[in-house]
Amino acid sequence: MSKAKPTDFDWANLDFSYHDLPFRFRTFYRNGRWEEGKLVTDSQISLSEASPSIHYGQQVFEGLKAYRRPDGGINLFRPNENGKRMNRSAKRLLMPEFPVDRFVEAIKQVVLANKEFVPPYGTGATLYLRPLMIAIDSVVGVQPGKEYMLNIYATPVGPYFKGGLTPTAFVTSQYDRAAHGGTGRAKVGGNYAASLLPGSKAHETGYSDVVYLDPIHHEYIEELGSANFFGITKLGQFLTPKSPSILPSITKLSVLDLSKEMGLKPAQVQISINDLDLFAEAGAMGTAAVISPVGSITNQGEKHVFYSETEPGPITLKLYNRLTGIQFGTETGPEGWVIDLGK
Ligand code: PLP
Ligand code: COI
Repeated sequence: MSKAKPTDFDWANLDFSYHDLPFRFRTFYRNGRWEEGKLVTDSQISLSEASPSIHYGQQVFEGLKAYRRPDGGINLFRPNENGKRMNRSAKRLLMPEFPVDRFVEAIKQVVLANKEFVPPYGTGATLYLRPLMIAIDSVVGVQPGKEYMLNIYATPVGPYFKGGLTPTAFVTSQYDRAAHGGTGRAKVGGNYAASLLPGSKAHETGYSDVVYLDPIHHEYIEELGSANFFGITKLGQFLTPKSPSILPSITKLSVLDLSKEMGLKPAQVQISINDLDLFAEAGAMGTAAVISPVGSITNQGEKHVFYSETEPGPITLKLYNRLTGIQFGTETGPEGWVIDLGK
């Protein structure tokens, strides 16, 4: 694959796909310690055919974005939270932690080395960063590796759900993505492997993605594909699911604070698929999804429409504007959420 050039991109019409940019950060864990690491140009990686990452899924990853401000500068949004979550995921899979300050430093290096690929302000596009940690040595029995690689690539992206701010339709599934006590709270590839079949069935039948229900009762909402769910009740509460098997979203963590700021009485609670009538509006939250309105959820053939199938609800829109205002630097957010990388 040849390297991308900034002139290759139609920034306002980007989709969510990979482009081979000039630089990525790479470091190795050997003899019980992380090496210093550096920016490299090679987008290919080489590892043992017996690596536990490819046989037993011993790998974790992250997803975060860099945002171009109207003044041409670049912002990162809470990268330290991604560093902390990567370490929680790594612990779950017996992988080594990577110091959070070094993680943030590595993210900065990747963004600055590829800065002409941070899309212009106003196009809605961003530079997506994908940290990945994998075991690279050789094992045959089911056991953790001893050597690891951390790689952080960047790629410019547009909206994850095709509609962007236009509501899209979701459908429940009989499949589970993760078990309570399993790896649902960790950002590990196996959860996404489990979601490929239900996700593709949902796409084939015209839905944006799957509403996963809890793996025990198949009643309580877990997640929406690769995003957390929220609903705004008719009484003005911001509710989002509480479950041991969903990914603790950094967007959710942030929107919980922002909804409080707006007087929305946030709470993390069990949300039954039979109680969708409680909600005036619903949406998906995530780095890739940002805040995407959910137009409808179809459960066992019955379609429940929220605010509208064509327009975002007013509170969803307000949350979207506040969150993206902070990320793109047009609004000031809580202390420490944004890191200014300059121009
Ligand atoms: N849930 C899943 C399964 C995800 O893959 C993601 C994306 O990272 C999210 C939720 C949202 O998390 P965040 O807001 O940290 O991107
Ligand atoms: C993210 O929001 O960063 C995700 O991980 C979503 C998905 C593309 C896996």
